[in-house]
Formats: sequence, C-alpha cells, structure tokens
Amino acid sequence: MTSRPFFIDTDTASDDAVALVMALRHADVDVVGIGVVAGNVPLDQAVQNALYTCELCERDEVPVYAGEAAPLSIPLETAQNVHGTDGMGDIGLPLAGRRPDSAHAVDALLEASHQHAGDLTLVTLGPLTNVARALERDATLPDRIARTVTMGAVADHIGNITPVAEFNMWADPHAVAQVLASGLDVEFVGWDISRHFAVIEPALAGELRSIGTPLAEFCVDIQCTVAEFCESETKLAGFDLPDPIAMAYAIDPLVATETLHLNLKVEVGSGLTRGMVVMDLLGLTGGEPNAQVVSAADRERFIAMLRSALT
Ligand code: BDR
Ligand code: CA
Repeated sequence: MTSRPFFIDTDTASDDAVALVMALRHADVDVVGIGVVAGNVPLDQAVQNALYTCELCERDEVPVYAGEAAPLSIPLETAQNVHGTDGMGDIGLPLAGRRPDSAHAVDALLEASHQHAGDLTLVTLGPLTNVARALERDATLPDRIARTVTMGAVADHIGNITPVAEFNMWADPHAVAQVLASGLDVEFVGWDISRHFAVIEPALAGELRSIGTPLAEFCVDIQCTVAEFCESETKLAGFDLPDPIAMAYAIDPLVATETLHLNLKVEVGSGLTRGMVVMDLLGLTGGEPNAQVVSAADRERFIAMLRSALT
C-alpha cells in the first residue's frame, strides 16, 4: 500500500498528542503538515506541544504551522481545566523554545490541497477555525480534498462542555456553520464514540504504559489531568481518547462499525445550546444529508492500533 497524504489540524493537548503519535508512526500515512489552532490551550502552547510530540516521534522534519489564535467571532475559551495549564497534564515536560515553520497553517492547508489534489485526507482534532478561514479564502477547497475526518459533536446530544455541546464545536460554532455549508463531506467522530469505545480504564492504562517505550509512558502520563476530569465531571471509568479514535478511523475506516448520513446544523447563538450540532436522526427537518456521522466503533481494533503505535 502506498502511503496516504494526511494534513492534520490540531489544538494540541493530551489526546491530540496521542492522535499525532498514531499518524506519525503509521507506515501507510504520510503526514504532510500539521496545522495548529487555538482551542484546548492558547495557540503558542499548542504549537509547542505539537513540535514536542513530533520530536519525541523522531519526526521533526514534519512541518508544524501556527494558525488562528482565536475563534472567528467569539473570544477563545480554553480547556486548560481539562488538559492542564500546558495542555499536557502539567507533568513538567520541556514545552518551550521550539520554532514552527514560517508559513501560516491556513496557507499550508491550501498549498497541501493543491500539491495532493484529490488524494489529501484532512483530519481535524480541534476547533474548525483554520478550516473555515481556508474556505473563506478558497471555496473550491472541498473539490481537492479526498476525505475530511473531524473529531467533534455528539450523535446522542450529550455534551462534554455543556449538557448538549462537545468542546471543539462549542469553541467556534461559527466555523462549524461555515464548514457544514461548504460542501466538504465531513465524517464526524463525536465525543459519544469516545465515551462508548475509547475509555482507557486504569488497568489498561497500566498495561499500555508497561510497554515501556518513552512514547508509551508519554502517551499515558500526559492524560493525568484528563483522568481527574473524567472521574469528577464526565464520570467515565478512566480517561477517554477522542482525537485518537478519530485518527484511528481516518487511518482505517473499519474502526467504524456503523455510519449514518445525516443533515447537521449547528447552533451559533450564545445561549444554552451554543455549539450544539443538531443531528436530524429521524429526518424530521427534511434537510438534505450534509455529513457522515460515525455512530458505532470497533473498540478492539482501536486499542490494537493504539498499542501498535506505542510499541
Ligand atoms: C475534544 O476537545 C478536546 O478537549 C479534545 O482534544 C478533543 O479534540 C473532545 O471534546
Ligand atoms: Ca483536540
């Protein structure tokens, strides 16, 4: 199999880093660029986290581009209460002083879409701000993208940042609206998929860590603040890995065991349902399907891919 070009857009924090490791270490994937966006942490911190992760994977030749520092129309609100002040669990990693590529992430995405026209897989792991800006600049972008896989939304409408919204969609709902209207055939992997199929319980975390490689220790140790949040707030039996299961599906579509083709709309207002992606599961609105939604996944396949990336 020849390797497939991936452009990854990420607000790099603890679970994004694991997703990057999975892509950077997969033989069938050629990561042609990493665009960074503000989200979990401020932009500069996310850039440092992405650069550190590439270095740890011995892939420092992969270009990392800084992108948008704030959502399209609302102020940035980070998730440092979830991922730690540095986004990587505050375990004392040296996350400063590295330099990204001089190009902007939006320019880099557009450039990659020309260089790999018809072949490029775009994987988004953070707010959709960079992608929305790229669409504003060039509305023909969807014609050149083979697949877009997005970690975001919730098919069961149970949120992780508000009762009904998932963080990436909530952080920049105006960007979501632009993406949904753009003609990009987005494949959403929502937080419901993470909650049901990608929770790493303490025994499994211990087993993964005991693989004993620096990468295995890194990928488990940086989840420590997320693990506390999962215990106290989202009430999971361990830490969950939303971005890694989205990346696993981007690499191997068989990670999805059921996919729905649905009409999606996002609430951009500032009230109770901001960032809620309303999925018309029963076709009540009569709206044309505008996205694919993964509704069930193969946990064993995902864990096997994770294990192999850390080994
Ligand atoms: C998403 O938001 C962030 O906290 C994670 O990195 C993931 O992309 C989960 O809702
Ligand atoms: Ca993320």
